[in-house]
Amino acid sequence: MCGIVGYIGKRDVAPLLLEGLQRLEYRGYDSAGIAIHAGGKATGLKMVKAKGRVRDLEAKVPARFKGTTGIAHTRWATHGAPSDENAHPHMSGDDKVAVVHNGIIDNASDLRAKLSADGVEFLSETDTEVLTHLVARAQADTLEEKVREALRHVEGTYGIAVLHADFDDRIVVARNGSPVVLGIGEKEMFVASDVAALVSHTRQVVTLDDGEMATIKADDYRTYTTEGSRTTASPTTVEWEAESYDMGGHDTYMHKEIFEQPDAVDRVLRGRIDDRFSTVHLGGLNLDAHDARRVRRVKILGCGTSYHAGMIGAQMIEELARIPADAEPASEFRYRNPVVDPDTLYIAVSQSGETYDVLAAVQELKRKGARVLGVVNVVGSAIAREADAGVYVHAGPEVCVVSTKCFTNTTVAFGLLALHLGRIRDLSVSDGKRIIAGLRKLPGQISEILKQEDEIKKIAKGYAEARSMLFIGRVRGYPVAREASLKLKEVSYIHAEAYPASELKHGPLALIEPALPTVAIVPDDDLLEKNRAALEEIKARSGKILAVAHQEQEKADQTIVVPKNEDELDPILMGIPLQLLAYHTALALGRDIDKPRNLAKSVTVE
Ligand code: AGP
Repeated sequence: MCGIVGYIGKRDVAPLLLEGLQRLEYRGYDSAGIAIHAGGKATGLKMVKAKGRVRDLEAKVPARFKGTTGIAHTRWATHGAPSDENAHPHMSGDDKVAVVHNGIIDNASDLRAKLSADGVEFLSETDTEVLTHLVARAQADTLEEKVREALRHVEGTYGIAVLHADFDDRIVVARNGSPVVLGIGEKEMFVASDVAALVSHTRQVVTLDDGEMATIKADDYRTYTTEGSRTTASPTTVEWEAESYDMGGHDTYMHKEIFEQPDAVDRVLRGRIDDRFSTVHLGGLNLDAHDARRVRRVKILGCGTSYHAGMIGAQMIEELARIPADAEPASEFRYRNPVVDPDTLYIAVSQSGETYDVLAAVQELKRKGARVLGVVNVVGSAIAREADAGVYVHAGPEVCVVSTKCFTNTTVAFGLLALHLGRIRDLSVSDGKRIIAGLRKLPGQISEILKQEDEIKKIAKGYAEARSMLFIGRVRGYPVAREASLKLKEVSYIHAEAYPASELKHGPLALIEPALPTVAIVPDDDLLEKNRAALEEIKARSGKILAVAHQEQEKADQTIVVPKNEDELDPILMGIPLQLLAYHTALALGRDIDKPRNLAKSVTVE
């Protein structure tokens, strides 16, 4: 969603900030803006804002927009429609204070009413502008104190960066529920809401905690709490390199990320398999055998694609470790006052590690004394830090809004976790060996599937005209059907619905007709005959069928054959051709593949 970039140093700031904003485009936004110190306290700040893309903003930046300190923002509308006025930064009436803000100020309307009654004139409909006026009106002597004073009035979430014309040697930032990362350069400092904006300049970063503020100067930074006590935040090195954010010769990030999957899966497995005991080592898990044996249930929480990966994970844990397990959307869980059970192991799943609904569920669970593991891609992200322990999925940066490689790596990480729990409990050595052999086959088998791209592309052309599609699967195949249906909707905008194949005759069969194609997940497992019966039922009603299966399906019009792995691991592979199906269908329809309409990569607000 929204993105923040800031810089203080010796270089011309506008091009640097625009480049940073471009790196954040993948998060989704509707407008952008930039404010700089124009040099000297007397001249105040300069600002340019534009509805639309970063390139629209760039076109509006005048040639004489020069300075060496500035802040910039990409906005995703929450309070007020996308417009030039509502874009950030928001500036005080005297051009002295500029603020960029991610998050939501919950009491903005009360504060706005009070400020308006005091004669403050508002230029936008945003919650952020309230903060700008509060900083501008603060009586304190230092910028740090002014920001602190302003923050005392606000309730809600924020990641902010503040510029003040009278304090031209610094940028002050603060975090509460929305990420802020400092980037340390050579006599220059950066700030951003996402390391993607920094890594082409520095990989030395400091991630602020909630309730923390920082002052950044060209050659120095200091961190402290919102109450003013000093904190010690040591820099860490970002493991992702700047090149991993490039398109690498592909036309879209989605295509690149689909094709990165063999390497990504290799990475999540690397160094974790223990052949001697037919198990795996998961360094960050912090769950000894004694604790693992006491787990009575596993509850997995995530949103969207991560929830689907969690559904697959729950089945693997139940099958391999024989612990009752289920997955639930974190967005639902946190609103239903759930019973929190001390013998349940809670697992929060998130690619970004910043999804607000997941973070809020983790915080609620911890408040109630639960033990929470994170299965997360972004190292050091809010959910990774909030969880008691966890497993990183090591997919590398995922830029396309639509998740592909991270979904696959998360399911593999769950395979590892299920094997680990299973081998502590009742999974035999020979079953452990069998699963390890299956895991090791995955990268090669994914490469085999990706070789079918040309055929899948042809198949996709045949579906581009569909108004709606049905995805079905049974037990292990059902979460695969759900994820494939989500992929198609997100990227092609074709309506798609996923159903358990076992539920067909309880309703959805009424929809079957030649114009509604069905995609069926048909693994070669103990439910093969049941799945074939469902295909018969659809065929008998003249429905068109595409099967994803381990062998050609006679009743299907077309079959994409995928390599067979162990039954428990098959779901990891069966969705991969359907990522390509969604991709090529969207391409045939001319969709904006990496940035589907109305969607953001990280949903950091409620
Ligand atoms: C994936 O294709 C989606 N864009 C979306 O469902 C996503 O998985 C969801 O918002 C959760 O994100 P997270 O994994 O970063 O928490």
